[in-house]
This record gives sequence, structure tokens and C-alpha cells, in this order.
Amino acid sequence: MRTITIKPKAITHNLNQVKKLAPQSKVLAMVKSNAYGHGVAAVLPALHQADGIGVATLTEALEARQLGWDKTIGLVEGAFTADEWQQAIEHDISCVIHHTPQLHWALDNVPPADSATRVVWLKYNTGMNRLGFNAEGVMSAAKQLHEAGYQLILTTHFANADNRDHPLNARQIQRFTDVLTLLRETVSAEVKGSLCNSAGTVNFSEYHYDWVRPGIILYGSSPVIDKSAQELDLQPAMDFSAQIIALQTVNANDAIGYGSRWIAQQDTRTALVSVGYGDGYPRVVSNDAYVSVIDADNTDSTQSYPCAVIGRVAMDMIVIDVSKIPKELPLLNRKVILWGEAPHVDEIASHANTISYELLCRLSIRPARTQA
Ligand SMILES: Cc1ncc(COP(=O)(O)O)c(C=O)c1O
Repeated sequence: MRTITIKPKAITHNLNQVKKLAPQSKVLAMVKSNAYGHGVAAVLPALHQADGIGVATLTEALEARQLGWDKTIGLVEGAFTADEWQQAIEHDISCVIHHTPQLHWALDNVPPADSATRVVWLKYNTGMNRLGFNAEGVMSAAKQLHEAGYQLILTTHFANADNRDHPLNARQIQRFTDVLTLLRETVSAEVKGSLCNSAGTVNFSEYHYDWVRPGIILYGSSPVIDKSAQELDLQPAMDFSAQIIALQTVNANDAIGYGSRWIAQQDTRTALVSVGYGDGYPRVVSNDAYVSVIDADNTDSTQSYPCAVIGRVAMDMIVIDVSKIPKELPLLNRKVILWGEAPHVDEIASHANTISYELLCRLSIRPARTQA
């Protein structure tokens, strides 16, 4: 049985950590890509103290409305067509406006005065060079939108907020601050600002402005390169587990798995765990990757044994080295933590040469899902 257990209390705890970091700002909790793989239905109730949620597609926005989310929804890439703009109005969704077609849809079809779609997130390209107007374009769009009755939130996205010392951060902050000041002086003193994702929220406390937009931090991963999740007092919101389904002793000099890449240096007790890349466990992990074999019916890491993942990860199974587990402990069907408290998903991501975001988002539909 492979199982993904979502921990709503951990998400609420992490949201409170964000609120402690940014006490003056509203929180747009990012739940795009099915709440970073956690399942939006499981996550929304844990976020009821957020001021809004952020999604990437209209479909995600409509799903959140269907699930009963009645506060702000921010569509962070905005409407893709004029028809989507109309649907956004019908469902009270606040959109990013990042290019001229979206500006025209907004000016041609102004929502009623009490509609949440009257609030637009005007995207300024401060250096990421994906979405957004340049400084001149932002000023012009802001004037037109303000005259048409829209309330504005100037927004941008950091390219390197995880690394506080990256030189682009200061440039992005400067550009953002300059344009926000100018907008407030020349268009409306009411223009709001939103600059920080999770990493920005941790690293740039002077620049939280009116809305922060945390994502990965809510799910318990560290967003920055120099502090662990534990150091930031975050709790992992997901336990990914499987079980031991067979045991072997592999003789010295014999190889394990596809490609016969792992060769036993001595006789080695191994266990087969029922998980693989077909579930979303990364196919390529370094020699340091490990799982925790649980010595009790709980996930307390003090009662668990770290066991190295050996041989190639296959679609449905991995092999682990259980030589160091006391022989008296029966292992068949025993629970194995792939990520959770230990190992943390951040560790497995680094062993897989990727980021936790990717591992969380690419979990497949095969593991059973449950909540703690
Ligand atoms: C516009 C925007 N804001 C905020 C976030 C949240 O980022 P993070 O998960 O790094 O906090 C994202 C995610 O990529 C985003 O695209």
C-alpha cells in the first residue's frame, strides 16, 4: 500500500509562521497545481485564515469556488482569452494583467463595482523576464485601469529570492519600489503592492508590502538555500509512505535491479519496498538517498531506521539495505517513510537533483490519499 497522508494542522501551522514573518501583510496562499500536489480539497480548510488563494489557471480557480472558497482568488497568469475574462467576472476572480490583450479585455468589459474582479494585479517585469509590462507599460496600463474604475495591486515575481545575496534581488526591489512610489504619486495613493513569494517573505522582511504570496513554505519545505525547514520551524504537510513486500539476502558481488548498477560489497540483507517512479518517487537518486523503516505504528523518527535506497528505482519498487535493522524486528509489511519528517522531502529533492516543488507536484494518482 502506498499512501500519501496530508496533515492540515501542519499547513495551518506553516500559515501561522508566514503570518508571524509578515504580520502587516495579507496572505495570498498559493494552491496552484493541486496545492503543490497535496490536493486542493484537503488543503483549503487548513487555509481558512489566509486572506486569499492564488492559482495558475481558471480551471483551478473554478474548482476552488466549487469547493466553497468564498474569499479572494488571484489568477496569477490572468485570463488567457476574452471568454476567460468574462468567466472570471462571473466567479469573482481577481486577475493578473500582464500584457496588452488582457488590458483590452479588462477595459472593454468592466465588471460591476462590487465585483472582486475590479481588483487587478498589474504585473511589472522587474527582471524575471517571463510575464509583465516594462515600467512605461505599467504606468500607462495603470492609468487606463484606474480611470476605468479598477483597484490596483502592483505585483512582480522574484527570480532569485531563495538566495538573499543574488544581485538581481536588489535590482528587482529597487525597480518595484520606484514604480510603486510613482504610481501612488501620479495615479492613486490607493495602489497596493505585492512582491514576495515564500523566499521573499523569509529573506526580505522590509519589502512585504500589502500582500505576500507564499507557496512552498505552506507545505513545510524551506524556500531558501541557507536555512532548513526545521530552522524555520516549518512542519512537513505530507507523509509519503509505502511498505516492505519482500526480503532477500544478496550475496557479496551480486548486483541488484535494472542495469545491475549496485553491487553488494558483502552479503547484504535487503528489502523490497512497494513504491517507484510510477508513484512519483524520483527515478534517479544519489547514493545518499534513504527511507525510514518504522519500528512502531507511528512516524516518530526516534523509532525508525534510516535505510539506503540501493540499485535503480523501478516503476513499482525500490530496494533498500536493511542490514542495520535488528534481526528480531519482523520486516514484512512494515511501513516505510519515503518522505515526511525524515527523510524530509527537501533532502530527497536534493538527492534527486531537483526541488521539492517538482517531487510534490508530480506524485501520481496511484498512491492512496488520506488525512492525518
Ligand atoms: C506569481 C507567483 N507568486 C507566488 C508564487 C509562490 O512561490 P513559492 O512557492 O516559491 O512561494 C508563485 C509560484 O511559483 C508564483 O508564480
